[in-house]
Amino acid sequence: MFYGVDYYPEHWSEERWEIDAKLMREANMNIVRLAEFAWAKIEPEEGKFDFSWLDKVVEILEKNGIKVILGTPTAAPPKWLMDKCPDIYPVDYMGHTYGFGLRKHTCYNSENLYRYTEIIVSKMAEHYKDCSAVFGWQIDNEFGGRCYCDKCQKAFRKWLKKKYITIDQLNKEWGTIFWSQVYRNWDEIISPRYSMSADITTHNPGLVLDYYRFYSDTIVAFQKFQIDILRKIVPHHVITHNFMKLYNGLNYFDLAKDLDFVSWDNYPGTSDNIIEPALAHDVARGLKNTTFWVMEQQSGPRGWQIISENPEPGQMRLFAYQSIAHGADAIIYFRWRTCPFGTEQYWHGILGHDGVPRRRYFEAKQMGEELKRISSMFEKGNIPAQVAIIRCYDNEWVFEIQPHVKKFRYIDHIRRYYEALFRNNIQVDVVSPVADLGKYKLAIAPQLTLTNEKIIENLYKYVKNGGILISGFRTGARDWNNRIIMDVLPGELRELFGIEIEEYGIIPENKFNLLKFEKENMIINCDTWYEILSPITAQVIARFGDNFFEGSPALTMNNYGNGRAYYIGSVPSEKDIDKFVYWLVKESEIHPLYDKPIPGVEFSCRVKDGKEVLFILNHNSKEVNIELIGSYVDIIKSKKWENHIEIPSKDLVILQKI
Ligand code: GAL
Repeated sequence: MFYGVDYYPEHWSEERWEIDAKLMREANMNIVRLAEFAWAKIEPEEGKFDFSWLDKVVEILEKNGIKVILGTPTAAPPKWLMDKCPDIYPVDYMGHTYGFGLRKHTCYNSENLYRYTEIIVSKMAEHYKDCSAVFGWQIDNEFGGRCYCDKCQKAFRKWLKKKYITIDQLNKEWGTIFWSQVYRNWDEIISPRYSMSADITTHNPGLVLDYYRFYSDTIVAFQKFQIDILRKIVPHHVITHNFMKLYNGLNYFDLAKDLDFVSWDNYPGTSDNIIEPALAHDVARGLKNTTFWVMEQQSGPRGWQIISENPEPGQMRLFAYQSIAHGADAIIYFRWRTCPFGTEQYWHGILGHDGVPRRRYFEAKQMGEELKRISSMFEKGNIPAQVAIIRCYDNEWVFEIQPHVKKFRYIDHIRRYYEALFRNNIQVDVVSPVADLGKYKLAIAPQLTLTNEKIIENLYKYVKNGGILISGFRTGARDWNNRIIMDVLPGELRELFGIEIEEYGIIPENKFNLLKFEKENMIINCDTWYEILSPITAQVIARFGDNFFEGSPALTMNNYGNGRAYYIGSVPSEKDIDKFVYWLVKESEIHPLYDKPIPGVEFSCRVKDGKEVLFILNHNSKEVNIELIGSYVDIIKSKKWENHIEIPSKDLVILQKI
């Protein structure tokens, strides 16, 4: 598999390049990413291109058996370009224009950005099209952000016209009669900029949601523009982009569509944070429903102004193996060597400022040697998840615009379920609401308040064919344009869940209600929201235990087709979510990878050519001794284990059954 680093040769003198490449080779590295911020060095003046330095680097790397991913450098347009075309600078919602001094100072609706992007990307592609060292391309760097300039407003109007066709339709869908906001023609339409409130989410909910969608489409189109150039000139190269963890500024399913595979940038930080990177890996895998790359894997303390904790011995390797355990097919560390200048002086790499190989280098080298021996046993192997969590960006935006309850975040609700599944040793795919759910025993769709025909059809089909679905509060309450429906809730999903919603309300911060189960002797705290359910064909599983609605149905189950649809009118609290998920998992007959939770120990399985490998990672600062049934071999150390296994602190085993 590919294993390497993000390398910035432009930060070092030429004499160092041979030494770096030799050290990389000795660490069993076979790929580097280059040049994603090197526009000013490749085109120091308009129309004057200098590839000589990059050619030299690529040649040295190739001589050492190292392939290259080239970044298109559009995340850092140089000063000469910004001075010549200041319209490339984005404008924030308060009307302030960005200045020079950082990066990503780009409005994606600037024709000038497009024009100069076309030139630099074509030049690079032409120059490297026959270069055998180049394996592929990363487009730009960590796309994101929204601009509110006049060019974007114009493009927004065009986007809306395509969507709504007539201005009357737009007025109807947004409900602009409210507060006399009726638009008479497309040119009158605004973008959600500063108005009376500094919070743009107080604008019309239909308008804000459409702006989020429009901006997501804008960035996807800018990426596609670059992809089209590359596909024409270098059809034999792969193309990817480096996504950001749980970022929700754009629809990642759309961004992933045109790429060969997804990559993402993983900076887990400390051992207190083992579940979040796991979730982010599963999000990345779900975007194209396949394995992915980590384009930036943490290799040292992070920091711009403030420095994060230093990864302990073994931890860098452990987090890199966690990526692999969740489906990464390439590990590329950020960065090779810590930079002595610039904003990221303290964002540490494999080597420190002095460039001397030390602990982190030797740890990376050890892993490189291991991967060389064993990676063929799991590379491209899939994750046999039985549970899907549905993440829908449009719905995430609805709850960002109107959280409903103070501090409620859609992603935190997903996270709550995910963490409990993680602790119960259950693998999860995070998928889109229109993904094929057929292979999952259980699908969790916590917050599909916005629905459309496709989503509704998908949920009915899944349950009808035997799937088990659980959905939560406000499901089906809005149409796709963010208007609340006037039907009895949960609207078109009534038949599926076999209930009607009688009444709803919030559970204020730090207050709880109770879910009292009818059959099981179980009581669970719940928070955030309550919905009083009125069963039509559904059975009551649990009732609220407090407040004026004490005794009202809170959790129901409806038999539909060959499957079952559960509706929960509240949110199991942080404290009790494990209990609830354990119950749900039993109901769905899901088999965990290990039958009891072990704090700080992570289980993950990949299947390659029908053969399973089981990763067990010990994130704790103490050794663990785990009982196992049967005999296994740890493929890293070629060591046999029977009935139990010992894993040192910050270490792992990869087991095959024998
Ligand atoms: C990433 C980014 C890198 C580098 C790193 C450390 O998000 O892609 O270019 O900036 O963070 O700050």
